[in-house]
Amino acid sequence: MSERKKGTIAVLHGPNLDRLGSRDPRWYGTATLATINEEIRDLATSLGYGTEIHQTNIEREMIDRIHAAGNASVGIIMNAGAWTHTSHAIRDAVSQVTCPVIEVHLSNVYAREKFRHVSVLEDLVAGKILGFGKESYLLGIRAISSLHEGREQTK
Ligand code: DQA
Repeated sequence: MSERKKGTIAVLHGPNLDRLGSRDPRWYGTATLATINEEIRDLATSLGYGTEIHQTNIEREMIDRIHAAGNASVGIIMNAGAWTHTSHAIRDAVSQVTCPVIEVHLSNVYAREKFRHVSVLEDLVAGKILGFGKESYLLGIRAISSLHEGREQTK
């Protein structure tokens, strides 16, 4: 008998992350987005969760995904790419979400240009994980899992 899933974790990748594999490997490594997504799915499955994973270069689509995930997920892992630093529209969407959101970055944004040191999301999210390459996403999955299990126990 297959065990029932504990819920779905949404993973939302923002602009230019479809270029992983060839984009600036010094900061982002050489793994493609497809490979990273596979590792995310495998880890989530082993922890008992399903996943909804999307990448978009279109801000409106990201906002729609955030709205949908906010209703349907136990948590959201979000790498909003450059929108992290600039988008008040993405911020407003995140502010409506009631499940925990984890802000993720592959690179250590604080070791880079000044404009990357600003996040318009950071006071809304449950936490941030950055600088560990693709591992940042996997740590994010573990964080959502332990937050969710902690919440379940207090019910
Ligand atoms: C990024 C960091 C951002 O500054 C950049 O615009 C990205 C990727 C990261 O994963 O390190 O697109 O979010």
